[in-house]
Amino acid sequence: MIDDYWYKNATIYSLDLETFMDGNGDGVGDFRGLSARLDYLQGLGVDVIWLAPFQPTPNRDNGYDISDYYGVDHRHGTPGDFAEFMDLANDRGIKVIIDLVINHTSDQHPWFQEARKGKDNPYHDWYVWSDKKPSDAEDGIIFPGVQERTWTYDRKAQQYYFHRFYEFQPDLNVSNPAVREELHRVIGYYLALGVAGFRVDAVPFVLETQGPGKLDEAEIRFEILEDLRRFLQWHRGDAILLGEANVAPRQAKKYFGEGGGGLHMMFNFYVNQFLFHALASEDTTALREALEDTRTDLPMAQWGNFLRNHDELDLGRLTEEQRQQVFAHFGPEKDMQLYDRGIRRRLAPMLGERPRIELAYSLMFSLPGTPVMRYGDELGMGDDLSLNERDAVRTPMQWSDEANGGFSRAAEKQLVHPVIGDGAYAYPLLNVENQMRDADSLLNWTKKIVRLRKETPEIGYGEWELIETKEPAVLGLRYTFRGKVVVVFHNFSNRPIVVTLKKGPEAEANLLDLREVIELEPGEKGGHQVRLGSYGYRWFRLRKV
Ligand code: GLC
Repeated sequence: MIDDYWYKNATIYSLDLETFMDGNGDGVGDFRGLSARLDYLQGLGVDVIWLAPFQPTPNRDNGYDISDYYGVDHRHGTPGDFAEFMDLANDRGIKVIIDLVINHTSDQHPWFQEARKGKDNPYHDWYVWSDKKPSDAEDGIIFPGVQERTWTYDRKAQQYYFHRFYEFQPDLNVSNPAVREELHRVIGYYLALGVAGFRVDAVPFVLETQGPGKLDEAEIRFEILEDLRRFLQWHRGDAILLGEANVAPRQAKKYFGEGGGGLHMMFNFYVNQFLFHALASEDTTALREALEDTRTDLPMAQWGNFLRNHDELDLGRLTEEQRQQVFAHFGPEKDMQLYDRGIRRRLAPMLGERPRIELAYSLMFSLPGTPVMRYGDELGMGDDLSLNERDAVRTPMQWSDEANGGFSRAAEKQLVHPVIGDGAYAYPLLNVENQMRDADSLLNWTKKIVRLRKETPEIGYGEWELIETKEPAVLGLRYTFRGKVVVVFHNFSNRPIVVTLKKGPEAEANLLDLREVIELEPGEKGGHQVRLGSYGYRWFRLRKV
């Protein structure tokens, strides 16, 4: 029953409605536009769409500031458009997961507006307050350089309220049973509309105990996660929680839930950082350790592997030296860096050459876990550093060489974000329509790797081991599932390398190349010499001889 854990052999595609496709010509992407592009996504071969927040919002944090959980922001269409989209996606066998932003609401949410009215208001305890300015009001900042504090005075309430993120995002008090009940209702509502699960925003911050002076010794209340999971699974047996939890590897087990009561999936932020370190240093030693450190044997647990997402590339878990190495290679200018820890660039401009982009993508598709793509990376889209903070990586999808890259019929100045119109990544050259018709395009290459990953269930479901190659620049992985074995090699350096395989099952078997009509036979004394080009990558299935 390998279909049981469907998320283990799926490819997830993340997109923000706002910048994907504008169906009504007002300059902002919407459900009608997205629905019209479902054929494209089906053709690409993705199994799951992860939709960024689309609910009503003042939109001061890319929609992560929700002012009504039960609606669709008017810029994106109507609840009817959403239901229609769900139907059309499900018709094509595409599952939809949506963001569940429950750490905070927008300060414009009616709950907060009520809460501000004072201690007697029933909504007051839906948020976290303090009469005096807490001693740690300037600590625990998530967006250094932009955010100044975590407690802000509200004149109406005459109290300070807690906000882990920007000050317009007051934290919900999830200790309050009334809040928990409402969050259940939110989950139930979207399950009833057919979503297959949730990308849970900011998990550690949802679970931490809150209050004045608590930041330092905040405890993580896993019972809250168990409660959400119980509710979810009772209502839909195969729905999943994919958590955004950039935590230390030793914490991961708890978030996955040892008794099976936590997140089904978590983004592997840890491996992501070491992956970029390996790309920068051409040395996979630290990446291998990171993979071992994040090994998990819980049956339902699965990592989500990604290269880039809608935020900065967070390098906060590297050593200072490692981080500087990555900055030097991929974000040397101050303008490319963000929050003292990350890089606000897209994948293609960072990696530059096509072989290196392929290497990175091939790796993402073959690491232990499930691949999560980011819209536009299948084309090698660029970034716009003239935009604020993380908006640099949130420019509209480039569909064609028509005005606004085919994203919208609106006047250029009405667009939600400018389309990239100049330089090497400009839409007149770099767009879906061109790449569809070019057999060698990155888009067509990506389609093949998506399919290959699907046809290699050993990766998503199997046991994995590192293969010792004696070459620091090479990462070798072996997957075993139901008697089948797949081995994958990636060469992070720009010089060709031949690896010698003397031990392990691969030394005795024929190696069937999964991307070329080549079958390697073991030498007379057994073993193989596997040739990897500069930034080369090869996937093999073992064939017994
Ligand atoms: C998550 C989102 C990020 C957002 C933050 C606050 O980290 O990925 O985009 O700003 O939560 O909701």
